[in-house]
Formats: sequence, structure tokens, C-alpha cells
Amino acid sequence: MNAIQFDAYGGTEVLHAVDVAEPHPAATQVRVRVHAVGVNPMELKLRSGAMKDFMPTTFPATPGMELAGTIDEVGSGVIGFNVGDEVFGWSDTGAYAEYALASQVVRKPADLAWEVAAATPVAADTAQRVLAQLAVTTGDTVLIHGGAGVVGAMAVQLAVLRGARVVATASPADQDYVRSLGATPVTYGAGLAERIAALKLPARPGAPHGIDAVLDAAGKGALPVSIELRGGKTRIVTIADMGAQALGIPFSAGQPSDRNLPALESNGKLVAAGTLKVAVGARFPLAEAKQAQDQVAAGGQRGKVILSVA
Ligand SMILES: NC(=O)c1ccc[n+]([C@@H]2O[C@H](COP(=O)([O-])OP(=O)(O)OC[C@H]3O[C@@H](n4cnc5c(N)ncnc54)[C@H](OP(=O)(O)O)[C@@H]3O)[C@@H](O)[C@H]2O)c1
Repeated sequence: MNAIQFDAYGGTEVLHAVDVAEPHPAATQVRVRVHAVGVNPMELKLRSGAMKDFMPTTFPATPGMELAGTIDEVGSGVIGFNVGDEVFGWSDTGAYAEYALASQVVRKPADLAWEVAAATPVAADTAQRVLAQLAVTTGDTVLIHGGAGVVGAMAVQLAVLRGARVVATASPADQDYVRSLGATPVTYGAGLAERIAALKLPARPGAPHGIDAVLDAAGKGALPVSIELRGGKTRIVTIADMGAQALGIPFSAGQPSDRNLPALESNGKLVAAGTLKVAVGARFPLAEAKQAQDQVAAGGQRGKVILSVA
């Protein structure tokens, strides 16, 4: 089968097409004929070696965490899935391939497009996990950095569904988009504290500037101002700022064992119904995985970059 692999850390030039043997599932896995893959910033960090001290890569490596496709083989111990089932979720073996093995997938609603399904697992699971860590609840005001990003946009919407008021940072071009998701938009960068003060959020015990919790879904150096706006270090989490530990702020990194499959299945239904919006950005064929990762690195465009496989 066709797949994309890399044999050493480096730029996107290390990604190359290979023809490898088709995998077959162990007892607890299904094999998925991959239709669409979400391309994640994490895959760029794993490929470049930026994560090698925390998550070393075994070479050759096939990138790709999240996928949508059709089951075409079922492991002997798998109950509840059959050949032909349309699923989305996580790949065990790397999703930049025609076939991938998976042990954490859920049923795809029939009216959920393949690309949107492939763009949903990482965003929905990460946002769900971090909002739970922050204990976001009705009546809270939550500041979300990077509210127009794929994870940030999902976090905005799930926080609003929890009954929170959300203030979200985004570029000038994304202010209306973030507003359409249910947040009060503010531009990011210098002067953020003043722009938030201008919103006149009501101060409360434990929230001197009216911010009860902060999710940093951008990782662009906003933790110090977040501590100031929060009035302390509690109820602040980042998923992307590697300087968090030095500031005494938790970095939330999801483990496979943390993944909440029932929540993913129900969030998939909300996406199919249009209650939750998942933006899809540029689409590339599998053979153009380099260009897809270059697009993610370039940023500045809304929605998940997708590899369309078959
Ligand atoms: N720890 C985990 O479990 C986990 C899971 C998933 C993702 N992540 C990480 O989370 C980050 C976001 O992932 P993603 O898939 O949502 O990426 P994404 O879709 O590219 O979103 C990033 C967003 O950040 C915005 N941004 C850029 N500079 C900013 C700034 N200074 N302040 C606020 N926002 C800014 C970008 O807006 P503009 O392009 O308009 O500037 C963009 O909307 C990545 O670093 C990724 O690796 C971590």
C-alpha cells in the first residue's frame, strides 16, 4: 500500500512516499481503509525532533493521529464493529497511509463528511479534556487564547454549551468567526490586558478581573498576562506553551488512555447536526503530505488541513 514515512528528524523534506505491506489487525484492532486524515501541528513537532525528549520517534515512522474511513478487517476480539462500518477516531499505526490499524474509533454519522469527521477527534477530545480539567461550568467566564484555531474553536463552542461566557483571542480577520462561535472576540498581542479591561467583566470573589479560567490553545506567550488577568495561577491550562512549567502553569498533554470515546461519538453527532462547527481548511492528496505539513506550518488559514486518501 502507499504510505508516507520519515526515517530521521528534519524538515518536511524527510517525508517520502513508500510502498509497504498492508497491515493486519491484532485481536483488539480494526483495519481502516483511510478516506481522510487530519494534519496536526503535533505531527510537525514529532517530525522535526522538537518533541524527541518527551516523545521519541521510532523510525521509520508513519505520521498521522486522526482519521476517518471504512473498516475492512476486524480483529478476532473486537465486538460491535463489522466490515463496512464507517468510523472516525485515532490511528494506532499512522494515518498517512491507505490502510491504518485502530483500536480507538467510533461510528461516523452517515451525514458527517469524511473530511469533517477526520478533523474532529483531536479537537473535540482535547477541548473536552481541558475544559474538564478547568472545571468550566455555568456562570464562569473563560478566556480562550487562539479561539479561531481548530482546538480553540471547539473549546469555545463546548464551553458555551457548558453555560460559560467565553472571551476568545483571535487575529483581526477572525473576530467575526469567533463571535459566530459564541465568544466575545478580542485581538491577541500587546495590550491584551487593556482590551479585556475595556470589556468591563464583573469582578467576583476569586476572579478580580472577571476571568474564572483560562485555556491557552495557541502557545504564543500569553501565560504571564493570563496569570495577571486571572488574578493568580489556578484554573489556567495550556496545551501548547512549552514555557508553562517555569511559570507554574500546567501543560495538558493527552495520553491515549485519556481519550473519551463516548464523548467523541456524541460530539460527532453534534457536529453532524451543525450544533458544533468544525472548519476544514486546505485539502491535499496523500502524495502531497509535505505540502500539507508546510501549509500547517505557514498557519494563517482557518480550519484543519486534510489529506484526502481515497
Ligand atoms: N497538548 C495537546 O493535547 C494538544 C492537542 C492538540 C493541539 N495541541 C497544540 O495546540 C496548538 C493549536 O492547535 P490547532 O490544531 O488548534 O492549531 P491551529 O488550528 O493552527 O490554531 C492555532 C491558532 O492560533 C492562532 N494564533 C496565532 N498566534 C496567536 C497568538 N499570538 N495569540 C492567540 N492566538 C494565536 C492562530 O490564528 P491566526 O492564524 O489567525 O494568527 C490560529 O487560529 C498547537 O500548538 C498544537 O500542537 C496540543
